[in-house]
Parts: sequence; C-alpha cells; structure tokens
Amino acid sequence: MGFLSARADRARISASARAAQRARELRASGLSIIELAQGEPDFNTPEHVIEAAYRAMQAGQTHYTPVDGTPELKAAIVAKFQRENGLACKPENVSASAGGKQVLYNALMATVEAGDEVLIPAPSWVAYADITHFAEGKPVWIATRPGHGFKLQPDELERAITPRAKWLMLNSPSNPTGAVYSEKELRALVPVLERHPSLWIISDDMYEHVLFDGRPFATLAAVAPQLAARTLTVNGCSKTFAMTGWRLGYACGPVELIRAMARMQGQSSLNPSSVSQAAAVAALNGPMDIVHKRCAEFQARRDFIVPRLDAIPGLGCDSPHGAFYVYVSCAGWIGKRTPKGAVIENDADVTAHLLECGVAVPNGAGYGLSPYFRVSFASSMQNLEEACRRIAAAGEKLH
Ligand SMILES: Cc1ncc(COP(=O)(O)O)c(C=O)c1O
Repeated sequence: MGFLSARADRARISASARAAQRARELRASGLSIIELAQGEPDFNTPEHVIEAAYRAMQAGQTHYTPVDGTPELKAAIVAKFQRENGLACKPENVSASAGGKQVLYNALMATVEAGDEVLIPAPSWVAYADITHFAEGKPVWIATRPGHGFKLQPDELERAITPRAKWLMLNSPSNPTGAVYSEKELRALVPVLERHPSLWIISDDMYEHVLFDGRPFATLAAVAPQLAARTLTVNGCSKTFAMTGWRLGYACGPVELIRAMARMQGQSSLNPSSVSQAAAVAALNGPMDIVHKRCAEFQARRDFIVPRLDAIPGLGCDSPHGAFYVYVSCAGWIGKRTPKGAVIENDADVTAHLLECGVAVPNGAGYGLSPYFRVSFASSMQNLEEACRRIAAAGEKLH
C-alpha cells in the first residue's frame, strides 16, 4: 500500500509469532494443536514479585518515572550485575526498557547507520536481523556448525569483519540452539575483538539462569574487562523470573550509549511500566531458589524430550546446555512426500506438515540456518510427550 513507509515494509512478523498465531487460529477452528513455538516459561511469576507490584500500585507508583528506570530499579540492576556477573557498573551505566527486545531496539536504532553491518552468528534469535533491517543496517549471518555446538569460532569471526561491521551479537545460552559459551570459549574470541576496535559487542544474557548440568555462566564484559567500554550487556526479567508479560529488560554499557538509548526510548514509549519496575526490583533483590528449582524442571524436560526427538528417523538433535529450546535437524525429511503427494522441499514444508499433524513449531530459516525447526520445551511433560508422539507419527506419514 502506497501510504505505508518503506520502514513499515521492513518490519516483519517473526517465525515463532507466526507459528503461535497459526496454532491459535487452528485451535479456534476446533483442531487439537500443541504449541511449542513461543519462547516463554510456562510458570507463573513468583508470588513475592506479584505482591511487590500490588503494594507499589497501592502506594501510588502509578505515574511516569524517569525514562530509563527509577533510581530503585537502577540500584537493583547495578547490584545484580556486580553480584552475579562481577561487572563494575554505576547507575549511569544501566538502563531499563519494556523488555530486552526494546533494549536491543534502542541500541541498534541509536547506533546503526544505513548500510552498517551487524554480525549475527547463525542460527540466532530472529529479532537481531529484523531490528537490524528496521534500522537500515545489514545483517551479516555467520554460519556456525553443529560440530562446534553452534558456537562462533575465532577464525569465522575474523573472516566476517569488514570496515562496515558495527556490532557483533553474542547470545549465551542461545535461542534457538541452547549453546552456551564457556569462559574459555569467550576468551578465544577476545584477540579477534581486540584487533578490531571499531566493532562493538552486544552480549545477550537473557537466558543466564536457564543453564543446565551445573555449568557456570560467563559473560564477555567480565571475561574481558578491556572490552567493557564497547560492550552492551543485555538481560531481563522475562525468562529468569517468568515475567514475559511484564515487559522489563535492562542493560549495562558505556554511559554515552546508555544515554543515547534513553533518548530513543524517550521518543517512543518513555519509561517501562512503573508497576513492572517495582516488580523487577523485588525480583532482582529477592530470593533465587524458585529460579533454580524451575531450571531443574527445564533440565528434566530437556532430558525427556531430546532423546525422543533424536530417535525419530530423519530427525537429529544434540542436548542443549541452556535456554529451553532444542534445534532439531530435519535434513532426513527433505525430499520425502506427504500423504497428499507434496514434496517436502525445505524446513517451512516440514513445519507445515507438523502443523497438519497437530504440532506448531517455527522453522529454522528465520533463525538463519536450515533445514531445522525449533522446539520449545517450556511446556508441561504431558504436552511434550504428546508432541513427541505426534512428531514421530508425522515422520511415519512421509514416504
Ligand atoms: C535471545 C533473546 N534475547 C532477548 C529476548 C527478549 O526478551 P524480552 O523482550 O521478553 O525481555 C528474547 C525473547 O525471546 C530472546 O530469546
């Protein structure tokens, strides 16, 4: 439509949102669909967080706040980064937004000029490329290999860097693969990053607390403090505290960048919800035992689902080390025919066939590496068991 801007054209609906939407439509028409597409914990927000929000509302915390966070929230964020990550930061280094997604949006909108390159290890969360497009930048996918646990290797990074490269996106634990970078693996990237001082780094630590088998968490700015002056460390309440609907993300970075991000926010949404900020203070300053218990539950679900998916002929997956996704190769289904005679040509055809068989999942193309699909195991064991049964049955229908 001529009325809409080219910018509106560049804003796309993500593969996972599309799959979830399709699942809702089919369900509304009476079909039984198991939806393993959305990236959110199926648990409720902890009770003490909800109570803190309630108290804040009653105490009149229902007004505008400073654009990028109340002093109380900034203090809680500073304390979190110091306590959990060993990052030396001050209130002027941190900012809060309506979700980690808005943090990333602010950062790219504040820094990316038309044609600037954003390096994105593939597969990655779809939003990195989508926001880059939106900011008129150029996403540069760097393919990682399953043999390397889908983790970026120093030589692969070196080869991808050009004079236009502005940002590198690092995400650990990763959406969609569950890959986790150890301190040693991050350290291996540091000499390359030191050789290219104009490249800045976003460390997306959103799944920090969904980490399995007792693995320690590592983040770049702590591993290499010499890079902190050009690293934005992003985190949020969504995944850790099951607070996706509250919309509260935050970041720590160099003052000038943080100020520019606040200006972006000041001309769009202003402050994140005052009530959500009060809730986040309680979450960040509160006990972590419920978070650890839920992580153990995610690990049990992983251990249930991964061997079952991997045993299905034509599919293959490794056990993720964190987050709540498994990235399943469907290479063995490509070239087969559905009962209606259609040839499965790519992973979009695979997920369309799975949907017909009652399971909604996003295909790998949107994440930058095919042929795969992503399964979220943030769902009940009962759902996971039935989904595995349906996916196996879907495979048996192909010939
Ligand atoms: C890797 C990653 N980073 C950031 C986010 C943003 O989460 P939110 O905007 O809910 O804070 C998500 C959400 O799916 C994610 O998967």
